[in-house]
Amino acid sequence: MLASTLLSSLIAASATVQAAPFFASRPPPKALAKRAEPKTWQSHVSDVQIHESCNASQSAYLRNGLDDMKRIAEHAHDRILTLGEQDPLYVKYFGNASSAAASGLYAQIVWGNKPGVLLRCDNPDGNCAELTSAGPWAGHWRGQNATEETVICEPSYANRLHLASLCWDGNEIGVTPASQWLAADLLHRLMHIPSVTYNHVEHAADTYPDVLALAASNSSLAAYNQATFQLYALDAYAQDVAFPPSGCVGAEAHIPTEEDDGHSHSHDAGASSSSSAAPAASATVPAEMTIGNAEASATASAAESCHTHGDGEVHCS
Ligand SMILES: *[C@@H]1O[C@H](CO)[C@@H](O)[C@H](O)[C@H]1NC(C)=O
Ligand SMILES: *[C@@H]1O[C@H](CO)[C@@H](O)[C@H](O)[C@H]1NC(C)=O
Ligand SMILES: *[C@@H]1O[C@H](CO)[C@@H](O)[C@H](O)[C@H]1NC(C)=O
Ligand SMILES: *[C@@H]1O[C@H](CO)[C@@H](O)[C@H](O)[C@H]1NC(C)=O
Repeated sequence: MLASTLLSSLIAASATVQAAPFFASRPPPKALAKRAEPKTWQSHVSDVQIHESCNASQSAYLRNGLDDMKRIAEHAHDRILTLGEQDPLYVKYFGNASSAAASGLYAQIVWGNKPGVLLRCDNPDGNCAELTSAGPWAGHWRGQNATEETVICEPSYANRLHLASLCWDGNEIGVTPASQWLAADLLHRLMHIPSVTYNHVEHAADTYPDVLALAASNSSLAAYNQATFQLYALDAYAQDVAFPPSGCVGAEAHIPTEEDDGHSHSHDAGASSSSSAAPAASATVPAEMTIGNAEASATASAAESCHTHGDGEVHCS
């Protein structure tokens, strides 16, 4: 039977994992919102699932991206537990925030129970045609239509970088936008799934200099700031694995100045948009998060990923 074949090939081979029955039955009629699946003590699904609408090549690509996402999130978690709060890299991104909060969020990404959390490759809400200034959306959270689900659109396959490209060919931290790496992009998408991080992750600062300024000015915001988690994870992986010991913050990476206050949108790497200047496309999906496409260029501005929050605010990073 198709469904059971899919389940056995898509769900992690962990002994504790049990098949969630979410696509053993027909999808609900479009008008009905799909609700979050209950978490039970008997069933722990730590892997994100890939919907049957993804073909073999899309599934392999996304599974690889999810594996890379777990790799950097687990590494970030382990580095925090190993080196603690005095680690200069920790202080750089999280200031004096509690490392319990920071490491715990990575733990939720890697080990949290995620029944029903999935990526899908069809376009059930018709949003893949929506445009940002950088082109069609690369994907979007389904919001109230299905809170556990994220749609991946075509540009995610064309434009994202593999983790192996970190520190190669000018793909450097602070220069290449974090979401350009599929692993960091998926980290962002998962951080907005309510059943994974429970709506605690916010957008207080998006660009590299703003993230560093936020750590120095307001650690309690840094500890829940989306881009902080992306950049710390990439930087830690770069220093320890990809290009030890120094990692690869780009020479052109903008160092924070007094103008970067962690709330303003600075002009990093040519970024010129602000939340108020964000593309209007997202306004068609209030209360939903979307993440736009970003160009593959290493000089691409950091302003190409846009999404809308529950409060209707549009953020571009
Ligand atoms: C999967 O879909 C993509 C996008 O439509 C296509 O480019 C690719 O060739 C397909 N792969 C397979 C194995 O069908
Ligand atoms: C963290 O730093 C801020 C700003 O310097 C300070 O106000 C706060 O008391 C510090 N918190 C802790 C727990 O050290
Ligand atoms: C939810 O579904 C409706 C109807 O299909 C669609 O118009 C809307 O854009 C969807 N929301 C999201 C966030 O995709
Ligand atoms: C940090 O930001 C929060 C939320 O905006 C605010 O309530 C708090 O006062 C800020 N703390 C500092 C030290 O600026």
